[in-house]
Formats: sequence, C-alpha cells, structure tokens
Amino acid sequence: MPTTADVTISLSLRERMQSARNVLVLTGAGISAESGVPTFRGGGNTTIWKGMPFDVISSARMLQTNLPAVWEWFNYRRRLLAALKPNAGHLALARWHDRFDDFTLVTQNVDNLHQLGGSREVTELHGNIWRARCVECSTRYNLFENEVVGDFKEHEVDESDEELPPAPICEACGNSLRPDVVLFGELLPPGVFERATEKAQQCELCFVVGTSALVYPAASLPEIAAGAGAYIVEVNPERTPLSDLCDEVIMGKAGEVLPLL
Ligand code: OAD
Repeated sequence: MPTTADVTISLSLRERMQSARNVLVLTGAGISAESGVPTFRGGGNTTIWKGMPFDVISSARMLQTNLPAVWEWFNYRRRLLAALKPNAGHLALARWHDRFDDFTLVTQNVDNLHQLGGSREVTELHGNIWRARCVECSTRYNLFENEVVGDFKEHEVDESDEELPPAPICEACGNSLRPDVVLFGELLPPGVFERATEKAQQCELCFVVGTSALVYPAASLPEIAAGAGAYIVEVNPERTPLSDLCDEVIMGKAGEVLPLL
C-alpha cells in the first residue's frame, strides 16, 4: 500500500482546489477505516456475521423474517462504533465546508463520524446507525449513548442459538422499531438521492473517497458528475470500477491524502 511519502498531489489538482467554488465529495466505509471501522469489502474480503455475508443480515428480507437478528447485528456495530473517533480524513473534510462556496458531503456511511468530526449538512444516503424508526408510524428515536428504547436493553452477541430479545417497541404506536438504515433490497430515503444528484450535476470537482463503488445508486453520483463535466478524483488504496472514469486516482489512505489537499 502506498505511504504518504509516495502520494503526490498534481499541480492540476492543486490549482483546481484553489479555484473551485462547487465541490462534491462522496465517501464510503474506507474513510472510516483508519478510525477502526471495518470496511465491508476490500482487500479481497467480505464481512461475515454469524456465517452470513453482511448483505444477508443487512437485508430487507431479514428484516421481515428475523428482526431481532437484524437488531443484534446493528447493536454489535453500534457498540463497536461507540469507542471510535473521527480520523484526519473526516477532520480534513469538515474544514472544506468553509473552504468552498458550495460544498456537498454525501456519505454512504451510517457511522456518524463525519458529524462527530465537525461536518455539517451531511447527506446520508444510507441512514444513520444511531437512529431507530418505527416500522409502522415512522417515529424516529435517537440511540446515542446507548439510550435504551422502551424495554429494550443492549445485549451481548451470543453465538449460541438461544432466542434473541425481541425488537424494541415504538412508544407512539406499539409496533416494532427497526434501525433507521437502508438495507439491501430497500429504496433510499425519499428525496435524498435526488438532492445529491442535483449537486453532482452542478459540481466542478468531485472526490470519490473510500468506496468500492459497487453499490448503486450511490456509485452513480461520480458518473453523473463526470457526465456534467466535473473533474473526478478518486482516493482509495485500491482501484475500483470507477477508477477508469476518474481524471485522477490517488492511491492512498483517506486519512493521509485528504489532509495533503
Ligand atoms: P466497502 O467496504 O464496499 O468499500 C470500502 C473501500 O474503502 C474499498 O474500496 C477499500 O479499498 C477502501 N479503503 C480501505 N481503507 C481505506 C482508507 N484508509 N482510505 C480510503 N479508502 C480505503 O464500502 P462502501 O463502498 O462504503 O451499505 O460500501 C457501500 C455500501 O455497502 C455501504 O454503505 C453499506 C454496504 O452494504 C449500507 O449500509 C446500506
């Protein structure tokens, strides 16, 4: 993997950073990797949970058939995240809000680390792991600081086949709560992708940071920006299906590359 010493920022990109007014950044799990958040894919691996690929446990189908198991997986991830902090990549992007006239930060991450790093107006395509919502009336609940919802208590991951605690219950209508994240097989929250698309069409400079660019429609945003004439820059230690579309590919870690920009 390239180290900071190997990464050079082209003169062309430096000039574009100086003059650009309208910049869009799309981030994925890779930007949080240096905070200690495991990525889903990359390095030839795929996350497995209790013998299931993550896209099975994180699916609309699992929500229908075994909501407690879905809660267990997201509880596990929330516990993991609770101890983690934003890294230099998140902090660098937080400064970009003041640096450009029009800056749009779009993330596929549900980990809230951009917000903790000081970013405002983060467009979350896939929701946020620190929220729950009612499957019926859509009332939303904040899960920060391990807040207990209804009778629901955090529980340890149990590798045995013992029955899992039931899903937490909505205080407003008595139906089940679910994590407020987009699962495989579900649509994005209404309006969110449309707003991101509009910004992608307007930007001059578009960065694609730490995403395997395999999940659509998120991965189409750089394509839309390129189609509208933007200069596209990828930051990732590995090449992705979008690399060929990019004007520049910076092979490196987000936490090392973004502060150099
Ligand atoms: P992936 O796990 O698919 O891809 C992570 C990418 O980050 C890979 O391309 C790695 O090479 C790269 N990477 C690793 N370390 C990095 C670092 N330090 N700096 C920069 N890049 C690094 O994650 P996403 O593309 O975000 O969906 O996955 C997209 C969606 O699939 C996620 O939002 C999630 C998942 O299912 C939902 O939660 C709905």
